[in-house]
Amino acid sequence: MRINGDNGGFAPAGAGAHVRAADPVNAPAIESPLDAGSRKDDRAGTVSSDGGALGTAGQGMTIWLTGLSGAGKSTVASMLTDRLTRLGIAAEWLDGDELRRALGKGLGFSREDRFENIRRAVYLAGMLSRHGVISVVSLISPYAEMRDYARRSLPGFAEIYVDCPLDVCETRDVKGWYAKARRGEIPAFTGVSDPYEAPPSPELTLYTAGQTPEESVNTLLAWLTEYTSLQQNK
Ligand code: ADX
Repeated sequence: MRINGDNGGFAPAGAGAHVRAADPVNAPAIESPLDAGSRKDDRAGTVSSDGGALGTAGQGMTIWLTGLSGAGKSTVASMLTDRLTRLGIAAEWLDGDELRRALGKGLGFSREDRFENIRRAVYLAGMLSRHGVISVVSLISPYAEMRDYARRSLPGFAEIYVDCPLDVCETRDVKGWYAKARRGEIPAFTGVSDPYEAPPSPELTLYTAGQTPEESVNTLLAWLTEYTSLQQNK
């Protein structure tokens, strides 16, 4: 994979360049990593526990955004996918609401159903990854066990915690769910009547309460630039 930090973001390696993870011989280092002040822990640059790494044959990666409803996962994921695509990098956005609409018939929000939802997303992301695509997944994925399953299953997995306090998400209440949940009209609503287990050690945390979506995406791109560089230099 070649990601070029020119132009304040990612840029293709050349005409028609895509994720080049499938080509280890021609996997150049990333140029001009950005500095957007992201908080990054010391797991950045590691690979998923089943040993996958960027730059190995046929492999993309999965950027897994987790967080409360209304935290900004979908906004950031959509914008990130757009930025990557415009730069000639193969990327696909897998969003919770859309996945549930397309493939989630019969799935509710019990722990088991949420796990099944995640399992389906992991399956898709795995397929895309094998074709060198960056999957940008935005799912509440509230249980650590589910996200660990995704990490174990997907090579090149990065967990991004979209961190926003519940009261801010509730004030935003983009879809009106929180008000309904508080009135008791929605059972098992994450953060209100169902748990959300914050990731103890994500690769990156985005604090969306204090940032614009553009700032969050820039932070994520900067981190990704550095992360993929570290992967390739392993
Ligand atoms: S997950 O828990 O299985 O990862 P997912 O991200 O697919 O959840 O779907 C979350 C979206 O479903 C929310 O953004 C909201 O629009 C909707 N939703 C409906 N009911 C619930 C609920 N009980 N808990 C959380 N989200 C809900």
